[in-house]
Amino acid sequence: MNFIGSQTAQKLRGGYYTPPDLAEFLVRWVTHKNPKKILEPSCGDGVFFKPISDLIDDSHVTGFELDPIEAEKASKVARQVGLRQYSVNDDDFLGWAFDALREKTVQFDAVLGNPPFVRYQYLPPLFQGRAEAIFNELRCKFTKHTNAWVPFILASFALLRPGGRLAMVVPAEIIHVTHAQSLRSYLGDHASRLVVIDPEELWFPGTLQGAVLLLAERKANARAHGEGLGMYPVRGRGFLKKNPEDIFRAPQSINGKTVEGKWTRALLNPSTRSLLDGLIEAGVARKFDDVADVDVGIVTGANKFFLVEDVTVEQFSLQKWAHPMFGRSEHCPGVVYDDRQHRANALKGNPTNFIWFQDRSVEKSRPGKRYIERGESESLHTRYKCRIRKPWYSVPSVYATEVGMLKRSHDTPRLILNQLRAYTTDTAYRIRLKEGTADQLVYGFINGLTALSAELEGRHYGGGVLELVPSEIEKLLVPPPMKIKPKIAALDKAVRTLPMDAVLEQQTRLTLGNMGLSKTDQIELLSGWKKLRDRRHRVSSTAN
Ligand SMILES: C[S@@+](CC[C@H](N)C(=O)[O-])C[C@H]1O[C@@H](n2cnc3c(N)ncnc32)[C@H](O)[C@@H]1O
Repeated sequence: MNFIGSQTAQKLRGGYYTPPDLAEFLVRWVTHKNPKKILEPSCGDGVFFKPISDLIDDSHVTGFELDPIEAEKASKVARQVGLRQYSVNDDDFLGWAFDALREKTVQFDAVLGNPPFVRYQYLPPLFQGRAEAIFNELRCKFTKHTNAWVPFILASFALLRPGGRLAMVVPAEIIHVTHAQSLRSYLGDHASRLVVIDPEELWFPGTLQGAVLLLAERKANARAHGEGLGMYPVRGRGFLKKNPEDIFRAPQSINGKTVEGKWTRALLNPSTRSLLDGLIEAGVARKFDDVADVDVGIVTGANKFFLVEDVTVEQFSLQKWAHPMFGRSEHCPGVVYDDRQHRANALKGNPTNFIWFQDRSVEKSRPGKRYIERGESESLHTRYKCRIRKPWYSVPSVYATEVGMLKRSHDTPRLILNQLRAYTTDTAYRIRLKEGTADQLVYGFINGLTALSAELEGRHYGGGVLELVPSEIEKLLVPPPMKIKPKIAALDKAVRTLPMDAVLEQQTRLTLGNMGLSKTDQIELLSGWKKLRDRRHRVSSTAN
């Protein structure tokens, strides 16, 4: 959890500046349209001003910069580089943009910049309100999970004239985060073409936040054809020497599915995308939702009270109420959770007991009462999840399923065959079968196709960990369970002892290969997965 006090001032205003070579490249791309009126919505110390002055005649630049010292620096740069017509406003862009959008008073030929990365919760209430108003004005779905860069791009793009261009450095998470869906949809609807330049390295190491370049051209009119999105992967800075217009035209763009949802599919080679479509059509790839249901795990409201080690069970004589549970990936190094694994976890001193008081009868027992009083002395009964239920210590929705799934994974998600029928907390999901056996589902889940679809559907944050929420799990592609011949013990051993790349290669052969998928297609799926997995590890080493 980040607290506002621990955020540096630079971080709180999202103040990481664009290197001049990237700024120049973006300016070169917009010059193609011979722009005159240019917007820089968060201009920092004005890094875009020199290339604008060098490359565009008769430009009129409107800049915003919240920080008055930086705004002053930007004005000075504007003068020094010879910009004749400019204004740098030391004011909030969002408030101004909202009025401009509503009153339709102004349109720009080009927008350049690098919007601030500040989580909505850290924005002052006034700016929060303005951010929301921009979403509403543009009829975009608003969420409090948003980040300042989203309304900045939305408003800037909406202020472009038909055919105008937006060229910005934007967080790499624009490709996949759920909270940016309305921005992606808005751009998909209103851009004639979109290209994301996706670097292999981190351009802003200080922020630990992956960044990409977004090139977006506004449609000439609402009914004009939209070509969709193209992805242009780059390594190093060599691409900056190329003509940006050639780069904008280079990638094969994709429409439909890709532009409607996350943009992750565009990161794949066209051949991998058509392989995926083909497998769905041929029935080799089924949606997880067709074969199983996903339920969230048990929400205790106070894990340190309800999930305890053996010593606590003994110390408070809680044996009657203690049930086996697991919840962390280190508690399940394989794909089977059995008595042996459970005892090994307990021996290590892990909290392997779930304390389940079903009703008030526990208060009649002295040890039970004593433990509950201890929880109350720590005010646990006043916590939100606890205080809304009666009695506060009786956790609802307690049941175990034959199959579980951990929410987070490093390489690829796996299902756990819960032979012990242990309970799981909300760090895991409870999976209920709709077809096939538990062994078939668990065994068939580890393969290149499912791993690749997890990269396409999931989200990632700190440390590059992949996380899937139930609606994303439902979309995962799995081989039909009935066609799987499971050898669970062998898979369990492989997952415990081999690197995941090797396990996936082996399992792709044993599942999809046995169903007739060619070696070439197996390799295509595995390399697609590896590409996205490696990219995830690279771009999201953020601790924000
Ligand atoms: C990522 S920096 C980029 C600066 C410059 N555009 C560049 O590319 O180097 C974002 C800038 O936005 C400014 N900023 C933050 N919130 C703002 C707001 N509401 N209105 C205008 N500028 C803002 C920050 O002070 C910071 O200088």
